[in-house]
This record gives sequence, C-alpha cells and structure tokens, in this order.
Amino acid sequence: MAIIFNEKEAVFNLCTKNSLYQMKSDSYGVLLHTYYGKRTEPVDYSYLICKRDHGFAGNPYEAENERTYSLDVLPQEYPSYGAGDFRRSALKICRADGTCALELRMAGYEIMEGKYSIPGLPAVYAEEGNKADTLKVTLKDTREELYVHLYYGVMEDLDVITRAVRVENRTEENIYLERVMSTCLDFSYGDFDFLTFYGRHEMERQLSRMAVHHGVQSVGSVRGASSHHYNPFVVLADQKAGETNGECYGISFLYSGDFLAEAEHDQMKQTRLVMGIHPDNFRYLLEPGQDFWTPEAAMVYSSQGFEAMTHAFHKTVRNNVCRGKYKNARRPILLNNWEGTYFAFTGEKLLKMAADAADMGVELFVLDDGWFGKRDDDYSGLGDWYVNEKKLGCTLGELSEKIHALGLKFGIWFEPECISEDSDLYREHPDWAFAVPGKKPMRGRYQLVLDFSREDVRNHIFDQMCKVLDHAQVEYLKWDFNRNISDVYSAVLPAERQGEVVHRYVLGLYDFLERLTGRYPDMLIEGCSGGGGRFDAGMLYYTPQIWCSDDTDAIERLRIQYGTSFCYPVSTMGAHVSACPNHQTGRITPIDTRATVAMSGTFGYELDPAKLSEEEKEEIRVQIERFKKYYELIQRGEYYRLTSPFEDNCYHAWEEAAADGSEALVSVVAKRCYSNMAPEVVKLRGLIPEAYYEVHCITENDGDRKEGGGYPGAALMYAGLPMPRPGVEYESFQYYLVKK
Ligand code: DGJ
Repeated sequence: MAIIFNEKEAVFNLCTKNSLYQMKSDSYGVLLHTYYGKRTEPVDYSYLICKRDHGFAGNPYEAENERTYSLDVLPQEYPSYGAGDFRRSALKICRADGTCALELRMAGYEIMEGKYSIPGLPAVYAEEGNKADTLKVTLKDTREELYVHLYYGVMEDLDVITRAVRVENRTEENIYLERVMSTCLDFSYGDFDFLTFYGRHEMERQLSRMAVHHGVQSVGSVRGASSHHYNPFVVLADQKAGETNGECYGISFLYSGDFLAEAEHDQMKQTRLVMGIHPDNFRYLLEPGQDFWTPEAAMVYSSQGFEAMTHAFHKTVRNNVCRGKYKNARRPILLNNWEGTYFAFTGEKLLKMAADAADMGVELFVLDDGWFGKRDDDYSGLGDWYVNEKKLGCTLGELSEKIHALGLKFGIWFEPECISEDSDLYREHPDWAFAVPGKKPMRGRYQLVLDFSREDVRNHIFDQMCKVLDHAQVEYLKWDFNRNISDVYSAVLPAERQGEVVHRYVLGLYDFLERLTGRYPDMLIEGCSGGGGRFDAGMLYYTPQIWCSDDTDAIERLRIQYGTSFCYPVSTMGAHVSACPNHQTGRITPIDTRATVAMSGTFGYELDPAKLSEEEKEEIRVQIERFKKYYELIQRGEYYRLTSPFEDNCYHAWEEAAADGSEALVSVVAKRCYSNMAPEVVKLRGLIPEAYYEVHCITENDGDRKEGGGYPGAALMYAGLPMPRPGVEYESFQYYLVKK
C-alpha cells in the first residue's frame, strides 16, 4: 500500500516511486502539511515546524493562551478563509446568515484500493498494472455539519499524486461556495521560482520563470476556457533547478475553464501554492444535502530537475489521461485544407487536394471550416450544422465516399459551442446564446457562445452533429472554439445560481464530449480553440490531441512546442507542415525543417498540394516515410529538451529516446546562420554511457560530420554531438542513433 497511516502520530504518508507526501492531524485536529519531497523513511516531519510567537499571528480559541500556535504561520493542508490564516485560502464559503469564517478540523479518513474518479469531470485513471490507491480525509466545520472531503490519488509507479475536493452540505441552510481550490501546497522553507506558460493567440505557452517574492504572484484565466494566455500547468522549482538537477513540483489542473494558480511568499518566508477554479466568476449554491466536486490537480515532484518531472507527466497524460482507440493506435497522417483554401473551396477542389495528398502518402483528408450552412466567411453559419451541398456539389456522404476511394480516411471540422447571429439557429433561439438581459453581447470573431450549461441546447447541437456524422463515413473530427466567453447569463437559471454558469458550461462541454466519444468510439477527435486556446489535461481526457497553435511557422513553433512539452507529450501536440512564405509570419523555411518540427507532434500537412513543385512533393513522400519509420520512437519515447529556444544559441535541439536507451532520434534546427560560424555541440541524453552508438544523419545534409562510426553514449552525452554548419537559413538535421 502506498498510503501509510501512522496512527500514534496521526500522520498520513503518501508514497510514490520517488516522492513522499505527508500530512498530520495535530492535537487540535488541524490538518498540517508536513512534507512533500524526496521519498524517505516516513518519519514524522512535524519536527520541522517552528512554533514561535509571531506578532499579529492570532491563536485559535482552543489553543487557549498558547501564543506560539497560529494558523497564520503553520503549514496547512487545506486552509480555510476567515479563521485566523490571513494568507491565500483554499476554501471560502458564505452561509445563509452572511458569515464566512470557517474552521475545519479532522473528522475521519478512509484508505481505499484503486484511484477515485470524479462524476462528470476528467481525472487521471489507473490502467491495468498501475499501482493506485486513494486516501480520503474528511474535515468538518467546528460550527456546523459542513464537511470537506480531501481526496488523494496515489499513483506509485507513475510518481504522481492527484488531489480533488468534495464539499458536502449536511446543514439545513444554503451555503455558497466562493472559492474551492483543488490543491494547496505549503512549504515552510526554500526559495522558489514560479514557472508559468503565458502567451496569446498564435503564440501559446511561452516559458516564464520568475522568483517567488513577497506577495502573491498568480496566473489564471477568466475567459471561460483555460486560454492561450496562461496554461493550467505551473511549476514551483528550486531556484537552481534545471533540466537535470534540482527539486521541482509540477501541477497540472485537469480542467478546461477558468483557473487560478497563486504562489504566495509570506511574512515568514514560507511559500504557499494554491490552484483551482478561478473564484472571480464562481459562486456555487449548495443546498442542504448537496455536494460539490472540484476538478482534479495532478502533482509530480522531481529531485532531478524538469526532465524527470516532464517524463512523469508525459507518461501519465499519454496513458492515464488520454483515452479511446487512438490512445495507442497510430494516428493517421493528415492533410487539412484550411490554410490551403480557407473558405474558398468547392467539392471538386477538395477532391483534387485529396487525390494529390493520397499520391504523396497522406492517410486522412480533413475538411475544415466552411462546409455547412451559409458559411463562406466567418460572419455567418455557425449553429446550422447541415451540409452545404451546393458548395460541395454533392452530399457529404458522396464526398467522403470519393475520398475513401482514394485510399484516405475522412475528417470534418465543427465548432459546436458557438453560434452566428446570421444563422437559422439564432433566428429561432436567440436566448440560447450567452447575453445579459438588456445589454448587447460582446462579439468575438463575429460570433456568440451557446449556453452549453443547458441540456436542451446541447441536445439540439448533438442531434444535428449526429445527423451529419451518421450520413457519411467520418473517422476524424476537429472540435474548434474560436472565442472566449463573456456576458455570462443563463436564461434558465435563477439569480442565485448565475455564479455557477461558467463551471456548468464546462461540465456541459465534458458531458457532450463523453456522449460523442461514447457514440463514435473509433473516431479520432482533435481539440482546438483558435489553435491552442484550450490546451489542457482536461480536454485531453476526451480528445487525445489538440491543435497546438494557429501559428504554423516552424521557427515560432520551436518555442510553442518547447513550452508545451513541459507537461504534454508529443502525441498530444497537433502540428502541421504549411506553405511558405508562412501565412502568419511571412517567414521562409526549408520544407524539411517544417517537417522536422511538425514530426515532434501529431504530424500532418496544411497546404494546397497543387501549389507544390514536383520536387517538394517528392520531399513530402520521403518525410512521410521517415515519420512512419520513427513513429514509435517519436510518439512513445522519452522526450528531452536538449537546448532552450529562448537562449541566444544558434541551434535548437531536442531528442526522443527509447526508455532503455537502445535508440534515439535527435532533431536540430539552425535558428541562425552566418559566415565563419563558431562551432557548437549539443549534449545528448538518455543514452547508455558505456554502449556504442551508430549515428545516422537521416536528413539530407550532414555538414562535415563523418556518418556512422561508433560513438560511446558517454561521449555523446558528456562531450556532445558537434553541430553541422547549415547550408541555408533555418536548415534542420535529424540523427538516428542506434546502439551497436
Ligand atoms: C481556428 C483553427 O485553429 C484553425 O485551424 C481553423 O480550423 C479555423 N479556426 C477555422 O475557422
């Protein structure tokens, strides 16, 4: 059992392969957080707690005159608002009488085999063979029958601990939840950096690393989606931590709506990190007898830097978050028509694209936006999910049949959550879109958002989609969402429940996706929100891949995919080769470099093949074969960030290596090229030091290196692999290493 309860000391120990997480119920029944770090013997770590009389640090009544006992400075497991801890709280409630002060004390616990799940919400699950246990600790309000159940999933071999919270109202009055965080970590000692992933549309998940300083530093979203702007994944790291050294704690929030992560450095130089649903747009009414589950947070501790943390998250996301047929089955190499045609296509044009794609070895043709309703631009049509047969020149079934006859699978785009004002659906049901009574709603990309908290709205869209999907052979679906949510008001909820709408919306979205994946279990669904505006572990529970960014420029993608890689594996990152000059940046890069970058993703093409030269088509044929050959290594190997694209170096390099070190694929992109270049080496990782490796350059130009040979793993890792001189700007190189 990975959960050890020391009854005498009232200490709970949660043990994973490399970490130990500990909490203790003290003599007042306060649940203290005593340790989270490297796995050791489960000693009672409360010896580290320093009890002193700190001025203006109040004392709970039951501590009588013990002025050294203050919740304001003690490390706590789930601190509540209003009862003497003045730091950021994990839970704030408001009772019917208007009072908010909440004192929680230990009321029981339960240790269970297996991993808990959460009704209606995504959660890490145990696969056959995984060791998983659950601890439930119950806290109770000292005043009333209000219970807070803290759930811990201990995934020993995965090295992951998950947390979720259930609040249960057994009082006879209504209670409002105003802030219910999913996790809280208190550290009495240490100076930390806060790593977060910021960005914007077409520039998602850029790494930011800042020292946690006195005060509160936070990232979050109140956009109704996890957002392009901050990702619901953060890292608290020792200030000296790097890829392969130092302690760090990664937290991934499995939720696709509003979130908040706050790091607070307090008066005693202690650090608290809380993460959960953003409270700004959240007020949840719990009637007597009702309960509320928070979404889940998954946490990984590493004593060996970011790389080990990343490997644990990659494995977990790939095998214990993603689900369905395509969790393991090879994903088809696709061609998407969006950047090739945008809205300007006909059925004939699509078939020509598909024929060219098939000829190059593509396996799936994806028809993006513009095939339905009245939709020749983005002003109209959303909500009218019936096929525009006039534009296609045939039914969707016929189009899909012709595409299948070319030997391709067929996929299609939807944006189920949105509605155009110029649509039949809006004319019929204007109240289905979010709008505050008496105020004109904000438009985003000319469109409004449907109230997906409503079952009737979801049912209508679901039925419409099924009618389309049932009349054509569709193996792939792209689920897009092209704006953020504002003007939140649900026409069917009373005033006192309007604070629940954004969360209910996310639950509605998950419910829809669950139904869809249940009905079409063999269909591959790719998530998307204007690129990577909802790239989170919550969505990955339903869609095993997500379009990473609307920026398809290979050089921009280096940073985007680098930031994304801290938590999310290659198999989740939608990445395509697009045309040059690139549509977003105007940059010109070699087609081989575009492929090198897209290969460390789900890999596909997004261009008009008719505009390719014969030489480029031939190159694509070679790329596709290369990707297929190294697919397993790329998609299931261990991922190594060999350099940082944010540093001022000439090359950016990364590697995918077999877990046993027997083979590896190293990808390098020359970010700069100038005359008389100074030599650079890149140090590899994940190899067996004493083994010898053959090094094969599998792209065209190997510069001046000698191909093959026998290089010891130790030499390649500790001395490095010399970088070739690029012959053209942004040239890329891929090396396949195999143990001799
Ligand atoms: C945004 C997506 O990210 C694009 O790939 C494309 O599907 C457009 N929407 C279509 O409107």
